[in-house]
Amino acid sequence: METRELGRFLRVVGTSGGRRELRAAWRRRRADARDLPRRGSERARVPGPAQGAEPLPGGGVVRFARSALWIRVTMGGAVFCGWDGAEPEPSYALANGCPDPDARTTLEPDPGGDGWRVVSERITVVVSHHGAVEFRTPGGALLRRELPPRWWDCPGDESRWVQRSQTPADARVFGLGGRAAGPRLAEGSYRLWNTDPLGSFEPGDDPLSITMPVQLVVADAGCHMVFHDNTWDGRVCLREGEEGAGSGHDRPGSCELRVEGGPLRYWVMAGVPGRLLRTWTSLTGRPALPPRWALGHHHARWGFGDAREVRRVADGYRERGLPLSAVHLDIDHLDRHRVFTVDEEHFPDLPGLAEELSRSGTRLVSIVDPGIAAQPGLAAYDSGTAADVFVRDARGRVVRGVVWPGEAVFPDFTDPQVRKWWAGLYAERLGRGFAGFWHDMNEPASFAAFGDRSLPRSARHVLEGRGGDHREAHNVYGLAMARAGYEGLRELRSEARPFLFSRSGWAGMQRYGGTWSGDVATSWAGLRASLSLVLGLGLCGVPYSGPDVGGFSAVPSAELYVRWFQLAAYLPFFRTHSAMGAGRREPWEFGAQALQCARAALVERVRLMPYLYTLAHLTHRTGAPYVRPLWWHHPQDRALRDAGDAFLLGDALLVAPVLEQGAQVRSLQLPGGRWYDTATGTAYEGPGQVLLDAPLHRIPVLARAGAVVPVVGEDGRTELDVWRPAAGRQGRGVLITDDGDGWDEPRTERFTARWQDGEVVVEREGGVGEPLGEPGHRVRLHGEVPG
Ligand code: GLC
Repeated sequence: METRELGRFLRVVGTSGGRRELRAAWRRRRADARDLPRRGSERARVPGPAQGAEPLPGGGVVRFARSALWIRVTMGGAVFCGWDGAEPEPSYALANGCPDPDARTTLEPDPGGDGWRVVSERITVVVSHHGAVEFRTPGGALLRRELPPRWWDCPGDESRWVQRSQTPADARVFGLGGRAAGPRLAEGSYRLWNTDPLGSFEPGDDPLSITMPVQLVVADAGCHMVFHDNTWDGRVCLREGEEGAGSGHDRPGSCELRVEGGPLRYWVMAGVPGRLLRTWTSLTGRPALPPRWALGHHHARWGFGDAREVRRVADGYRERGLPLSAVHLDIDHLDRHRVFTVDEEHFPDLPGLAEELSRSGTRLVSIVDPGIAAQPGLAAYDSGTAADVFVRDARGRVVRGVVWPGEAVFPDFTDPQVRKWWAGLYAERLGRGFAGFWHDMNEPASFAAFGDRSLPRSARHVLEGRGGDHREAHNVYGLAMARAGYEGLRELRSEARPFLFSRSGWAGMQRYGGTWSGDVATSWAGLRASLSLVLGLGLCGVPYSGPDVGGFSAVPSAELYVRWFQLAAYLPFFRTHSAMGAGRREPWEFGAQALQCARAALVERVRLMPYLYTLAHLTHRTGAPYVRPLWWHHPQDRALRDAGDAFLLGDALLVAPVLEQGAQVRSLQLPGGRWYDTATGTAYEGPGQVLLDAPLHRIPVLARAGAVVPVVGEDGRTELDVWRPAAGRQGRGVLITDDGDGWDEPRTERFTARWQDGEVVVEREGGVGEPLGEPGHRVRLHGEVPG
């Protein structure tokens, strides 16, 4: 038992809830001891020498003495590799199954080598006689070398396997889902098992609620992504390489992936970051487009206590002229924490409250946990029991765990019938006036005094009809729940775009909505971790996320609150939230100065809304996240790969939050090109390091020279902030608008900014002299002319 776990164990065993958790932990342990296949003697296996190859559309199969490797280049450029008969489907990640093979490519003997190769537009794959697989750029530079895999075959159970790979010595790795210690993943071991971090986490805590075997690797030779399509428990060990300072003796970076079962199959994609995310989200689905209100400010709290307090908070925002897009009701609005109920005594007439709030433009969002109280008489429990939707153990008994309402049972979201049943439950929520949904505790979390805080690994799941156990289903539980919720909302309220975000998930979760940090610690380290999570998830195709502003776990100082608020004002999901007992998060609770700072951040958020909403559309079209690492356009700039303390917001803005206590200036690693400090107009030339003023009332935000940024003008109409292009250069920008919700085709306007006779001229694309929209957008020109 780890120290932290032991501490918790000692704290909880004395209480009645604690005794329940103790029983649950024993129950889980007993079930697994009884029902998991016993791993007898294992036999190690490697592919052995190659015996021949057979071309197929998009690639072919190479046969080895003890295995086979199937390679298929697909339309769009992603390369599939499956060992031991593994095929691309079934897969929880793929949005529309496996894309067609790229018929222009086939397997052929490697002219210069000892194996075979597949040459495609963006990647050349070379397979050696012993089963090593290299991925090279069309120019021949090595991106990744997968060494021959190794299996441990076990009669009656899944084979465990390990896959080692090498990357160039200068490579940096990003991704693996939401990692607190990112965004660049330092050397170390990262587990692939979605885990509830127990109410608080900081950069040292791993794993968290969203793990996924998705890596984005940045190196001088080029960028690539690799996705091991396997949902089982696993571990990734990363080691960075070392360059031999021109001696020619580089030590490559290495990655070792160990997985407890399931298929050995992976996808590799190559290209610049924008291309990678486009390919990745064409495989796993484009990110859902949130309704426009979801980009406003949200206020949540565990422990509003009653509707009066909700009104008081909403009124507090209104009276101070602070915009508020949504209020989130946590489990305390439920009747004894039971999902799909309401505590009518403290929250009477929720539809009335929703209606009242909507008059000032504020929506209600509801928490939804998967665990259903095991209490006959509770509608969701009774209908679930009648429809036989709950996860059972190997002996056919419904599995019980412990969550907020006490003893609970868990719908098996890997069953299409169960998803349908669950989808129907949202009718109750919509009837109460809720407009959005906050999926929580879906790792799935089940409290336990020791061991894994989830369902028994031996618990049975339908897995789309294939059947299997929790070892395979665990990591996709939250993803499948999100699908159920999303599909339910599409059906029940077809005119509106669902707004849903989920604490846990897996590759492809962006199809259904976003996520948030979960229970990030209230500390400066927690603040840093929240940015890492957003950046890392964006590179895994999950662009809509943000932290609990102020941290979840304790009362922040006014300074920490302000810095957190300022950062989050530039992240897609902007929400204040706190745990019971961790104090309030209203901007006026931290003193007059903090209120002034928060107000400025909120005003700027509203002003940037046309830009943010345009980014939401672009993300939905291309997969490029709103929040991007500084190296996005300059992956060759090695200093940027290590600079995780600032980010690009779309193409136009660079945000440099303050992540250190007491800091009033900060240094910034600037990407190439000219950038303007938006507060002063001062021009800086990148690449290089600059020192920027960061007084408490603002964080540095820079605009790229040439950027055309749509914003809300003082009269409420959309206007264009234009940042003077560098001499002789042309700038651009885009504005995408729609009704803010629904499914109508959006309108797109593109703009250029260019120099003409010493003046900057801004035009709408489509013809010189084209008027700037209907009615024409006012243009404001910014940025000093460097002396
Ligand atoms: C979990 C969530 C947190 C929520 C709490 C009570 O800890 O992460 O956001 O407030 O549960 O529902």
